[in-house]
Amino acid sequence: MSQIPTVLASDIDNTLTGNAPALERLGRQLAVLRKQNKLRLFLTTGRTLREVLVDGFEQENIPQADAIISLVGTEIYLPPFEAKMEPLPEWDERLHQQFSREKAVDFVADIEGVEIQPEHYNTALKASYFLDKSPDPANTVQQIKQRVAGQSNGYQVVWSSGKDLDILPADAGKGKAIRFLLSYLDLEPQRVITAGDSGNDRSMLEEFEHGIVVANAQPELKKLKEDLTSNSKLYFANQPYAAGVAEGLRYFGVL
Ligand code: GLC
Ligand code: MG
Repeated sequence: MSQIPTVLASDIDNTLTGNAPALERLGRQLAVLRKQNKLRLFLTTGRTLREVLVDGFEQENIPQADAIISLVGTEIYLPPFEAKMEPLPEWDERLHQQFSREKAVDFVADIEGVEIQPEHYNTALKASYFLDKSPDPANTVQQIKQRVAGQSNGYQVVWSSGKDLDILPADAGKGKAIRFLLSYLDLEPQRVITAGDSGNDRSMLEEFEHGIVVANAQPELKKLKEDLTSNSKLYFANQPYAAGVAEGLRYFGVL
């Protein structure tokens, strides 16, 4: 078993991105800690692998990572990363056992104002839609959740930023993907610290004790403050984006 003090599992968009100088500073600090074997970084994102590698690493200064959990926890990749690599088969197979894309798509059939997202966000394990055009997005989500709950327990509905809707295998999502990966890598960190800004980060903020919610978070995460369980140590940063992540890491004594 590998003893690493801390795993930081961070979302990318609007958690690391949003303030380039702050991200550059944080990136340098994380690189030092990784080199000293004090920290591993898992990127947990709704992006595709390609968007992490090509846009993220090459253009946006996203820090190098020890794992990429992409497409909202439906795919896992381990280094060395390459644009055309296959996702971790053990995770992929597990999720396929419970999920049929056809069935997922059926849950939203005939619901008004639901628009399918571009093809690269729609995979065999993820059916994703925009709700921008829905007359009442909250109600639409409720309707879809009820259909799912009534028919199957192999599916989950994730609603983010008031507009993105994902239907995923019940066992997927960022929180469960991180859990799986820790066990797969035989890692027992002293702490897992998660960091996020929107609805698809909720599963990881709830799965682990320590978490950082950046100041620019969407209302659905700000609400977590009220729903907190007594053993949760969520830190609500005063600063937005990467500066908020750094603030949280200082709070937890990592930086
Ligand atoms: C990212 C993904 C999108 C998803 C959203 C919320 O933006 O690209 O497919 O709906 O995250 O999870
Ligand atoms: Mg985000």
